Amino acid sequence: MKALVLAGGRGTRLRPITHTSAKQLVPVANKPVLFYGLEAIGAAGIREVGIVVGDPREMLQPDHRTGQLVTVMVNTQAEIRAAVGDGSAFGLEVTFIEQEAALGLAHAVKIAEPYMAGEPFVMYLGDNLIKDGISPFVREFAAEKPDAQILLAHVKTPSEFGVAELEGDRVVRLEEKPKQPHSDLALVGVYLFNATIFDAVRAIRPSRRGELEITDAIQHLISSGNRVRSHVITGWWKDTGKVEDMLEGNRMMLGSLETDIRGVVDQASAVEGRVSIGPGTVVERSRLRGPLIIGANARIIDSYVGPFTAIADEVELSHSEIEHSIVLERSKIHDVPRRIESSLIGKDVVVCASDARPRTHRLTLGDSSRVELS
Ligand code: DAU
Repeated sequence: MKALVLAGGRGTRLRPITHTSAKQLVPVANKPVLFYGLEAIGAAGIREVGIVVGDPREMLQPDHRTGQLVTVMVNTQAEIRAAVGDGSAFGLEVTFIEQEAALGLAHAVKIAEPYMAGEPFVMYLGDNLIKDGISPFVREFAAEKPDAQILLAHVKTPSEFGVAELEGDRVVRLEEKPKQPHSDLALVGVYLFNATIFDAVRAIRPSRRGELEITDAIQHLISSGNRVRSHVITGWWKDTGKVEDMLEGNRMMLGSLETDIRGVVDQASAVEGRVSIGPGTVVERSRLRGPLIIGANARIIDSYVGPFTAIADEVELSHSEIEHSIVLERSKIHDVPRRIESSLIGKDVVVCASDARPRTHRLTLGDSSRVELS
């Protein structure tokens, strides 16, 4: 059995973070979302993994020093290749499969046919987080040998997902993001297939949004009389497409964090609850209330870091308060008068107070940024 991990796509709902970075590499509890998937695949005993990556593209970005618009190459493929390497860090043998554009999940399956070479495989969407992994589902598929196996979960907003209709435990109909969903059962981004899926992806046509939908391909399998099993999962699952989902994923993963303090916390600081601090990090005159994680070489000075916060490497926080948030590498937060909450702050961002008169807000924000001031 092999695995196919989808790490292409556009990441439009996580803008502006994903203007320049792959959405699958945005960290949850200081670890890229994609790595949780790769670990789950390894834990299920699978070694050979094809990772679908997108093509580099050009984008206009404001330069945050000059404010001028500049053309930058967004190469999420290079980022993913650099982060994953040959997969040996995960005990995997990784092969990258280039997709020329985000033409849909079923298109990604289509281009992976030569790599799969007739073997059954698990397809894992690189932005999905499943807390308890996938081992039981892989075992069930290997034992029952259906043509396809899908995972379903009850959700509050089914129209944002592929939706399944069941009769007993038989799947009778699947629909991608229906306006009027017939059930609250969403398709989770983990699918198991044998080689019949390749006939199905060849048979379907692009959807209204112009993509070859895997949901339509599985519906095609059902309509052609193939055996499609389903499994309703009860454990925690999240498609990390949106900021609030990232924050919830962060909360969930930090919930099982172990205390591990490798940096230096001075006597004037207070540490409560489960806290992980990376090497080289300095905490002075601050209060840390876990669960929270701080990466390596960060500086936390005269500040408060509250529960469910993940602070990446080399971040500086001084005279500020933050909780239930994610801060990416090298950002600086200084003298912010109110507590920062439920926020996702990208790389190299500066948030600071200014004494300049008149008192104004001075902002240099990328496209699709969101700032709430009170
Ligand atoms: O998360 C579960 C949902 O995932 C399912 O309920 C839906 O049925 C399924 O279509 C999918 O919906 P999304 O709209 O969330 O898919 P998204 O475009 O976010 O793509 C999922 C992953 O696949 C993401 O890591 C990007 C990658 N991708 C996407 C496309 C369209 C590719 O690698 N290539 C592509 O062409």
